[in-house]
Amino acid sequence: MKIFNQYKLGDIKLNNHLVMAPMTRSRAIDNIPNDLMAEYYRLRAAAGLIITEGVAPSANGLGYPRIPGIYNQAQIEGWKKVTDAVHVEGGKIFIQLMHTGRVSHPENMEPNTRVLAPSAIGMSGEMWTDSKGKQAYPEPLEMTLLDIEQTQEEYVEASKKAIEAGFDGVELHGANGYLIDQFINTASNKRQDEYGGSSENRCRFALEVANKVSQAIGAQRTGIRLSPYGVFNDMEIFEGVEETYEYLAGELGKLNLLYIHIVDHSSQGAPEVKESVKSKIRDSFGRDIIASGGLDREKAENILSDDRGDLVAFGQAFLANPDLVYKLENDLPLNNPDFDTFYTPGEKGYVDYPMAPK
Ligand SMILES: Cc1cc2nc3c(=O)[nH]c(=O)nc-3n(C[C@H](O)[C@H](O)[C@H](O)COP(=O)(O)O)c2cc1C
Repeated sequence: MKIFNQYKLGDIKLNNHLVMAPMTRSRAIDNIPNDLMAEYYRLRAAAGLIITEGVAPSANGLGYPRIPGIYNQAQIEGWKKVTDAVHVEGGKIFIQLMHTGRVSHPENMEPNTRVLAPSAIGMSGEMWTDSKGKQAYPEPLEMTLLDIEQTQEEYVEASKKAIEAGFDGVELHGANGYLIDQFINTASNKRQDEYGGSSENRCRFALEVANKVSQAIGAQRTGIRLSPYGVFNDMEIFEGVEETYEYLAGELGKLNLLYIHIVDHSSQGAPEVKESVKSKIRDSFGRDIIASGGLDREKAENILSDDRGDLVAFGQAFLANPDLVYKLENDLPLNNPDFDTFYTPGEKGYVDYPMAPK
């Protein structure tokens, strides 16, 4: 079966076509990766490629409690434990850089930080803080041109630190309503300058970040995750969505980026991600595509054999089954994920899912 065969992603040799999708797990006490996290990723190292949970490139980008960062020395040292553990097992691992932008709260942030976004538009609803429970989302500050430049530099510095910490590459989180997506989407971007308005302008931030990170660590170590038709975190399906992503994918292709990772959360009740937009992205990009969302072995194999994706990502199945590759290969039953422990601190629901006897 193709899915279990080796694959060359750029010049990175993967043991199979299975990717562990990025999943925030909120186990990083003080925002520093720790031994427990190293064990969690080590247990899942049979994936062809692991993409870590979303990691803050800077203190301004750290909006959730207990998510890890990669902007100080303690965090670099913590991540070294993770990358070593995965590499010892023969796996490969990319870090997902997630600047949360307006999906944030000062209670979750360090002193002297700012909640930044393309426009001063707060989100509806509330978010969890460890110190005060649920809190209304604050109105973010509209980023100045200087903020934009400095934030892009933060992605660059974080990417360099990620390579220093032993990562095989970097995935830019351009999906699910976080900062890069906040620029792309008309719900959160009402800017009048060169970063707002036309789709070219709304893609500018993503493209500049991708370009600068590629220049710093190599385009062949830089991927990006995108969520066309995504509505999570108050995003909207805007006019011209397909053309926007077609344009963005084409420009990312010109930068020789390693891959585009396409999110499809329709199996969880999110809007349909039309095949038309997926094929536009694929054709326009012309390089590797990671397909994700609601996959099982059969769907994943079909994607690979129909050439709709080069790699296939599994989220919850990997969360609940550290030995997912072995179980799929041998048609063994899968554990169900325990939603209650997705984001709780500690070992429960993290490193204690049972594995199949070998
Ligand atoms: C607990 C949890 C945390 C997640 N955190 C992230 C994240 O940090 N970054 C991201 O891009 N997607 C995140 N996702 C989305 C997953 O990467 C994936 O797209 C989603 O789970 C659908 O795939 P699945 O049906 O195989 O689970 C998360 C999903 C779950 C279940």
